[in-house]
Amino acid sequence: MKMLAVFSAIVWLLAVASPSQGANILGVYSALSPSHLIIHMSTAKALAEAGHNVTVVSMMQPKVMHKDIHLIVVPVTKEQERTLENQMASMAGSKNNIITTMYLLLNGLDVMVTSQADLLKDPRFQRVFETKFDLMILGSFFNDFQLGVAGKLKVPVIVDWMIPSNTMIDEFVANPSEVSYVPNESTFATTPMSFFKRAENLVKHVILKYLTIRFNYKFNRIYNEIFTDKDMPTLSEMKKNISMVFVGSHLISDGPIRPLVPAIIEVGGIQVKEQPDPLPQDIEQFMENSSQGAIFLSFGSNIKSYMVKPEIVGIMFKVLSGLKQNVIWKWEDLENTPGNASNIFYKDWLPQDDILAHPNTKLFVTHAGKGSITESQYHGVPMVALPIFGDHPLNAALMVNSGYGVSLDLQTITEDTFREAINEVLENDKYTQAVRKFSALYRDRPLTPRQSVLFWVDYVLRHHGAPNLQSPAVHMGFVELHNLDIYALVLAILIFLVFLTRLTVKFLFSKLLGKAKVPARKKKQ
Ligand SMILES: *[C@@H]1O[C@H](CO)[C@@H](O)[C@H](O)[C@H]1NC(C)=O
Ligand SMILES: *[C@@H]1O[C@H](CO)[C@@H](O)[C@H](O)[C@H]1NC(C)=O
Ligand SMILES: *[C@@H]1O[C@H](CO)[C@@H](O)[C@H](O)[C@H]1NC(C)=O
Ligand SMILES: *[C@@H]1O[C@H](CO)[C@@H](O)[C@H](O)[C@H]1NC(C)=O
Ligand SMILES: *[C@@H]1O[C@H](CO)[C@@H](O)[C@H](O)[C@H]1NC(C)=O
Repeated sequence: MKMLAVFSAIVWLLAVASPSQGANILGVYSALSPSHLIIHMSTAKALAEAGHNVTVVSMMQPKVMHKDIHLIVVPVTKEQERTLENQMASMAGSKNNIITTMYLLLNGLDVMVTSQADLLKDPRFQRVFETKFDLMILGSFFNDFQLGVAGKLKVPVIVDWMIPSNTMIDEFVANPSEVSYVPNESTFATTPMSFFKRAENLVKHVILKYLTIRFNYKFNRIYNEIFTDKDMPTLSEMKKNISMVFVGSHLISDGPIRPLVPAIIEVGGIQVKEQPDPLPQDIEQFMENSSQGAIFLSFGSNIKSYMVKPEIVGIMFKVLSGLKQNVIWKWEDLENTPGNASNIFYKDWLPQDDILAHPNTKLFVTHAGKGSITESQYHGVPMVALPIFGDHPLNAALMVNSGYGVSLDLQTITEDTFREAINEVLENDKYTQAVRKFSALYRDRPLTPRQSVLFWVDYVLRHHGAPNLQSPAVHMGFVELHNLDIYALVLAILIFLVFLTRLTVKFLFSKLLGKAKVPARKKKQ
């Protein structure tokens, strides 16, 4: 009897917990950024490991891979590549923020958008229409028009986004942006925000809305050009059919606290391995040898060492070679290193996550890419940030604000400022304490990011989409959503009442006064 109960409990557990094994899942990850691809591929890898048949289309060779993933790489043309490299190099040479970066995307960097449209017309891509898929995951980056692929395949779609939800992502699932108390990352505000901070936040929100409208116009044009089949839904219909969005955040440890609709699932940290892999032998030895601790320096995968000015590299070398700590420096051109020093070890490719997980790593000198900061925070390693472009200054400012390290402007560093920054973070324990505390909160979750991905993908597969958890606001226009029609009616009634009252008062007055006046007038006649 007991056996039977246990047995049926096991059968029940298996039935409930076992995922929809072996679904055919298509990942479209066409952003031309290795760091985005790392995050998207981490999702794909988790799904492949769980037994799904995952097909991925990307435009560059991914760094994260799994042997069972069917990979289709359609690289950009040589000409597009050259344009991109030039743009990246010029961005690394000057100050940039998100707004200027977005303007670039609309103009000079247009190739980032058009190359993602060209991909859909490529015969290598067209092959995906031969397979019967069950789900599409879209790596989002100025490519909304690619939602048409899911429309053509007639499958539910999950959007994958690398960082916390912003105004653009909120729009997909009608998540409230709550501009009065959710600081836009670049507003650098602590909450609650002062009057001027709220004004600044609102202005930024409006600018982003305006840019979104311009992008939508462009996306619609591309969509209508590519998806010409008669029975195709429109782009705006496709947008209303997004089942779920995975975002790269964990707000209860990361902040800011804000509402998220049920269709937004936080999987921040998906790219961080739950268990570090063993380090390659040369790195392991160097790390073990670092009895004074090791400093890890990397500008990530987007920025090549040659893009940083030689004077700046010289300054960095001078400071680092004079430290008692060991330094492990990501440098691609091993023939031409910044200089030889007994405490510096150069390597063109480094397993960043595993190095940060090493107990001897005491400091991370980083370009402040979101992924790098997340990994460092996850492993409780304090930072010196040297932000370069795009969202880097913002990430760096937020990191500093949280007390996990200091930030310097890469273009203007001197030996003194760089040395001071490094010594400050190494010697003042408050940075390490703060980031370790964060690390403990960040790991404290009911489901790990990987488990969340598996659960919610299976959920969408089991129920063929997730319209049940979609906010009704998705289907409302601006006027209804903000009750503007009701306010307008109330206002109209009020105005009418005021008008009516005035009219009545006037009428009564004229009656009363009229009686008094009429004889007066008569006298005059
Ligand atoms: C797995 O996906 C590929 C497409 O990349 C497809 O050709 C293959 O038939 C799928 N396998 C199964 C068992 O469905
Ligand atoms: C903040 O505002 C800027 C400018 O409008 C925008 O580019 C950026 O995406 C916004 N960030 C968030 C998190 O909404
Ligand atoms: C480790 O340090 C010792 C001396 O401190 C040195 O002789 C040896 O070469 C170092 N090994 C590596 C791999 O750096
Ligand atoms: C560093 O040492 C290597 C040989 O170990 C040598 O080829 C190279 O020229 C040296 N670089 C500098 C900048 O001194
Ligand atoms: C919306 O997605 C469902 C599956 O979740 C699909 O059956 C339906 O055709 C989609 N509708 C549109 C407009 O794409």
